[in-house]
Amino acid sequence: MNLFDVYPLFDVNIVKGRGCHVWDDKGTEYLDLYGGHAVISIGHSHPHYVEQISRQVAQLGFYSNSVVNRLQQTFAARLGKVCGYDDYSLFLVNSGAEANENALKLASFHNGRSRVLSISKAFHGRTSLAVEVTNNPKIVAPVNESGHVTFLPMNDLEAARGEIEKGDVCAVIIEGIQGVGGIVLPTPEYLQGLRDLCTATGTVLILDEIQSGYGRSGRFFAHQYAGIRPDLITVAKGIANGFPMSAVLISPIFKPVYGMLGTTFGGNHLACAAALAVLDVIESEHLVENAAAVGSYLMDELKHLSGIRQVRGQGLMIGMEFDYPVKELRQRLIYEQHIFTGASGTHVIRLLPPLCLSREEAGDFVGRLKALL
Ligand SMILES: Cc1ncc(COP(=O)(O)O)c(C=O)c1O
Repeated sequence: MNLFDVYPLFDVNIVKGRGCHVWDDKGTEYLDLYGGHAVISIGHSHPHYVEQISRQVAQLGFYSNSVVNRLQQTFAARLGKVCGYDDYSLFLVNSGAEANENALKLASFHNGRSRVLSISKAFHGRTSLAVEVTNNPKIVAPVNESGHVTFLPMNDLEAARGEIEKGDVCAVIIEGIQGVGGIVLPTPEYLQGLRDLCTATGTVLILDEIQSGYGRSGRFFAHQYAGIRPDLITVAKGIANGFPMSAVLISPIFKPVYGMLGTTFGGNHLACAAALAVLDVIESEHLVENAAAVGSYLMDELKHLSGIRQVRGQGLMIGMEFDYPVKELRQRLIYEQHIFTGASGTHVIRLLPPLCLSREEAGDFVGRLKALL
């Protein structure tokens, strides 16, 4: 059997990782400024993480959600304190799209409505409603087009007001910082305005922090720069440093009913052990603060390079927009300089390194990028 060929691949077989570095099967070392698509939060193969999940799998890897799972309770209590949402509840699932599906479903159960507002260039995943609120017709199959969604221009509060004040909107879903869309930041005023409009009309405000959350922006959640509290927050990627896990943080306005949500694998023992190890390291190594400090150093340095049209972002979620397509530059970064980066569309290079990136590693990248510009 062959693999279903849906990924255009770089011809590199990564077999080992440590911190912000990975190695291929020929022993070549690469600087990882992509973090496996923003997933590696605490660094590759962190010894504490390896020890904790090894210990857990030797003890118990999985049991179903029909029994008490103390690891889930411990994780919920720890996460609530670390991220500043102690009074919210937690529902654990397995992927970003699944977290968004559950958030949208919960919003609709809550207010009984079915219209959703999303933002132009948004990416929220590839399943049913998650892909319908994703602004990319190429990945929306006819079966996903159920007509629930209106897309709004980013940062245009009057356009949002025009729709939300109709009073029939179930939810507004917006990324803390748009990732796939090219590192586009909602302004604090826009998020505050959305919060007010949603509160006034009984509309649920969902913040998708799947890429921008878990410390990546230099705050635990990117929306915390705006000082708002959404009704639902979705997280994934960095939550378990590569172990598949995601979650919905749920405000106290939602009342749980037995059976309203459910999952087989979500929040299993091994996933929780991984997620707890991630929180240990985020706290003990001050990785949110590191993302803020190294991210602002890196952005300053990049802004001084000539040949980049615009540098934008927050913390260690950085976009560099060029006047030309970046495909060849990314290939040269990988094959000549041995540096992994991401892309958004054709003209933007995305940097999503592990949150433990050091100033030295950031400076090393700037020097090697300069050599190519
Ligand atoms: C903002 C955002 N939401 C949702 C998703 C979907 O996550 P997953 O691929 O785990 O389903 C992604 C993935 O890139 C994302 O960046």
